[in-house]
Amino acid sequence: MGAPYDRGLIEDFGRFRYFSAGMWAWVLHKVTGWVLIGYLFAHIAVLSTAIPAASDPEAIAAGTDLYTRTIQGLEGIFLVRVLEVGLLAAAVFHMTNGIRLLLVDLGIGLEREAEGFYVSVAVTAVITVLSIPVFLPPEVVPW
Ligand code: HEM
Repeated sequence: MGAPYDRGLIEDFGRFRYFSAGMWAWVLHKVTGWVLIGYLFAHIAVLSTAIPAASDPEAIAAGTDLYTRTIQGLEGIFLVRVLEVGLLAAAVFHMTNGIRLLLVDLGIGLEREAEGFYVSVAVTAVITVLSIPVFLPPEVVPW
C-alpha cells in the first residue's frame, strides 16, 4: 500500500489544474456514464407517460395524439435541442473512450493510453460539431 494522502479538512477542487490525461479520462467517463443513466430514466418517464392506455388511431393519423404532441412540444424547446447535442457528445465520448478502455483491458494500446484518450476526444468533437445542423437547424435557432 502507498503512503496515505492527506486531503486536509476541505477538498482542494483546484487540483483539477494538475490532472493528467488519464485523470480527465477517468472523470469524463464517470460523468458521461452517469449522465447517460440519468437520461435513460428521464427518457423512459417521458415516453411512457406520453403513451396513453388506449390510443386513438384517428388522432395518430392526424398527428394530434398525445405522443406526437409531447415529442413536438419537447423538440420545440430550444434548450432541449441544445441538451440533445450535449447528450450526443456524452454518448459518443463514453462509447469511444469505453472501447479504448476495453482494448486496454485486452492489453491493446497500453503504452499509448493518453493518445487513445485524445483520439476519443477528437472523434467526439468532430461528431458533435457535425450534429449541430441536425439538432439546431436555422428554423429552430431563436436569433
Ligand atoms: C458502446 C457503448 C458503451 C461502451 C463501450 C461502454 C464502456 C464502458 C466501460 C469500459 C466502463 C468501465 C470503465 C472503467 O473501467 O472504469 C463503463 C462504465 C460505465 N458505463 Fe458504459 N459503455 C457504453 C454504454 C453505456 C451506456 C449506454 C450507459 C448508460 C445508460 C453506460 C453507463 C455506464 C456507467 C454508469 C458506468 C460506470 C461509471 C463509473 O462510475 O465508473 N455505458 N462503460
